[in-house]
Amino acid sequence: MRATVDMRVLSDLFANNRAWAAAMTREDPDFFSRLSIQQTPQYLWIGCSDSRAPASQIVGLLPGEMFVHRNVANVVVHTDLNCLSAVQFAVESLRVGHIIVCGHYGCGGVLAALRDDKLGLIDNWLRHVQNVRWKYQAQIDALETEAQRHSRLCELNIIEQVMNVSQTTIVRDAWARGQALSVHGWIYDIRDGLLRDLGVCVTAEAELASCAVAAAAAAGR
Ligand code: CO
Repeated sequence: MRATVDMRVLSDLFANNRAWAAAMTREDPDFFSRLSIQQTPQYLWIGCSDSRAPASQIVGLLPGEMFVHRNVANVVVHTDLNCLSAVQFAVESLRVGHIIVCGHYGCGGVLAALRDDKLGLIDNWLRHVQNVRWKYQAQIDALETEAQRHSRLCELNIIEQVMNVSQTTIVRDAWARGQALSVHGWIYDIRDGLLRDLGVCVTAEAELASCAVAAAAAAGR
């Protein structure tokens, strides 16, 4: 079957784009020319790729205000050059003051990890989330329903990823040279559009251990 013209060009999206750019320019005629010179975001967002959990939009930020890295289940792996490169650029070049690890309730990646689903290649990626499940197995197994276990694993996964970001050479080096940098753990609820702070915030290497214990104990409350 031959592709229709629209299958090749996605004209709706281009129409949306033109309307958006025009509206932005009406609101602020210098918006794009200013942004084209430099970006000065204060935040690095590490979130899930889920289409229901966008980044800048849910915190009301404009282009230029947040640097973003997203992957399935918002995982920070110490050998993932993609994520580490984003973290390095954000911390060392853009000098963001905050790294926000934001997961979401209802995360399909987390559910697959919880259920030990066999989905192929992605199982290797979700292995990292399964390691979180194993680490907190007693806490997760104590919950009655799968929905509760799913939500708790979403929360615990975020807390663990906050610890992983905080343990990268990039973040530890930043702290060592006195750069102000906080790492936060938030969760987004796709059912009501609201964010919740998981109460884990690391601002120095010395806080790491106590933060992890406190946050994991408080998860789900
Ligand atoms: Co997700």
